[in-house]
Amino acid sequence: MTTSSRPLVPGRRSATWFAATGRSGMNHRAWMRSQGFTPEVFDGRPVIGIATTWSELAPCNVHLHRVAESVKRGVWQAGGFPLEFPAMALGETLLRPTAMLYRNLLAMEAEELIRANPLDGVVLLSGCDKTTPGLLMAASSVGLPAIMVTGGPMLSGKYQGGDVGSGTAVWRWEEDLLAGRMTEAECAVAEGCMARSNGHCMTMGTASTMASMAEALGMQLPYSASWPAVDARRYETAQRAGQVIVGLVEREVTPAAIMTRAAFENAIRVNAAIGGSTNAVIHLLAIAGRLGVPLALDDFDLLARDVPTLVNLQPSGRYLMEDFCYAGGLPAVMRELGDQLQAGALTVTGQTVGENVRDAPCWNRDVITPFGQPFQPAGRGTAVLRGNLAPDGAVIKQSAASPGLLRHRGRALVFDSPEAYHQVAADPELDVDEDTVLVIRYCGPKGYPGMPETANVPLPARLLNRGVRDIVRICDGRMSGTAYGTVVLHVAPEAAAGGPLALVSTGDWITLDVPARTLSLEVPAGELARRRAAWTPPPRAAARGWTWLYTEHVQQADSGCDLDFLIGASGAEVGRDPH
Ligand code: FES
Repeated sequence: MTTSSRPLVPGRRSATWFAATGRSGMNHRAWMRSQGFTPEVFDGRPVIGIATTWSELAPCNVHLHRVAESVKRGVWQAGGFPLEFPAMALGETLLRPTAMLYRNLLAMEAEELIRANPLDGVVLLSGCDKTTPGLLMAASSVGLPAIMVTGGPMLSGKYQGGDVGSGTAVWRWEEDLLAGRMTEAECAVAEGCMARSNGHCMTMGTASTMASMAEALGMQLPYSASWPAVDARRYETAQRAGQVIVGLVEREVTPAAIMTRAAFENAIRVNAAIGGSTNAVIHLLAIAGRLGVPLALDDFDLLARDVPTLVNLQPSGRYLMEDFCYAGGLPAVMRELGDQLQAGALTVTGQTVGENVRDAPCWNRDVITPFGQPFQPAGRGTAVLRGNLAPDGAVIKQSAASPGLLRHRGRALVFDSPEAYHQVAADPELDVDEDTVLVIRYCGPKGYPGMPETANVPLPARLLNRGVRDIVRICDGRMSGTAYGTVVLHVAPEAAAGGPLALVSTGDWITLDVPARTLSLEVPAGELARRRAAWTPPPRAAARGWTWLYTEHVQQADSGCDLDFLIGASGAEVGRDPH
């Protein structure tokens, strides 16, 4: 039964709910009509879900409710029927122990919601770090047409007449506080000047990186990553996305048609060009795993080695996302990459990457540098390290590291948790010098659990007071995309899984050789075997609930930290209709 003269589109998924006859169809329609929709919405037009990660507990996403209204306008304009629904909002700053513990839960929740409801396509509204990869993982596993709309960065922070980057500035202020260069009262004023509008972090941290990745993958409209959250063009783009998703449904363009191996290669190269977050490594691996796209940790090094850093943004550089927007945004960067990108990759616009960015202008060469005169030369991107300390790999963000420490040999100072380190970090007698290699372990996916951003712990006060600004740090956790320092991350296998990191003792020699891509523990094999025999795994983090499920099934960082039973896709088929 239909309720208007508009013909049903044969095979449209939502029609199996809304065009059903008898009690089943009446149930499906009647309760929807309780919201005041006219019967024409059931005439076979595409039903578009708008998955919004809005929450007052996720401040970076708090405006997505309004973004959703713009998306709805576009869907109505194009002849679709928009329906907004909530997906788990992950606020990076509040969630404990870490939002990363819940990325896969968001992905699982959103996947099931998309599949179980009468949707023909979906618009994914994200912002704060994990919400972007979580929703892309979900959409990939369902396979309905999808488009992403990220919420955009905050306006630039301003303090004492200068720019301050969200996240990035806090690291520096904490060091200044520890070293006595700032007071608590000054910090309180400064923090109020940093996050001064809606939006996600406005450095090239993880949120900006993942928004850029979504755009580079072809899953969101050009310029979407850079419009500030409060810019009218953010809302114009959201409305356009609402129009576009209806077309994607009508042409049956699925995420798998867009996020191909070529698209991932483009994303990896773009990540190098923007000086993006190391978290992109984990998230892109996880998204690719949902799609069955072959992607390996080493691809992030091999594909990016000849890509210079073109974008002069904090934390690697000087400017902020607002400047990036005014300079031309991601299309200007992608145009500059020229034949480094696979121009034929399809995007949600219906055009290829090459067509999208062919005429993209650049308005500020200090923010987006020319390929021939880059902000940083090729080879300063994410390096993948291996060795007896990281048999399955580790990563380091070279652009955020001190060049003088990229080849370094020093003695280990080992802590079994960041908390244990923080307890002594201010000790003026701490046995540490500028050659020390600080090891913080049991911070991996199973260990903490959730693999928090604990790797870039602040330097010991003893070194800060001597003017030391960086030392080598090694961790099986992650580093905030807003942070900087010579920090080896994502060591795999992690200590809690019995990786060699668990066997390091204070005083051991460690050699880091980034140009040679090695990370070595200089301890004889026999001694390591003795230590392994004496090692016992830490107790499980939880005996029940999500944390138990997570630690039971989470994969290591080199595989993207997805749960082993969530890898791959299940399609959009649903079970029977009991009505
Ligand atoms: Fe949400 Fe940085 S805290 S993006």
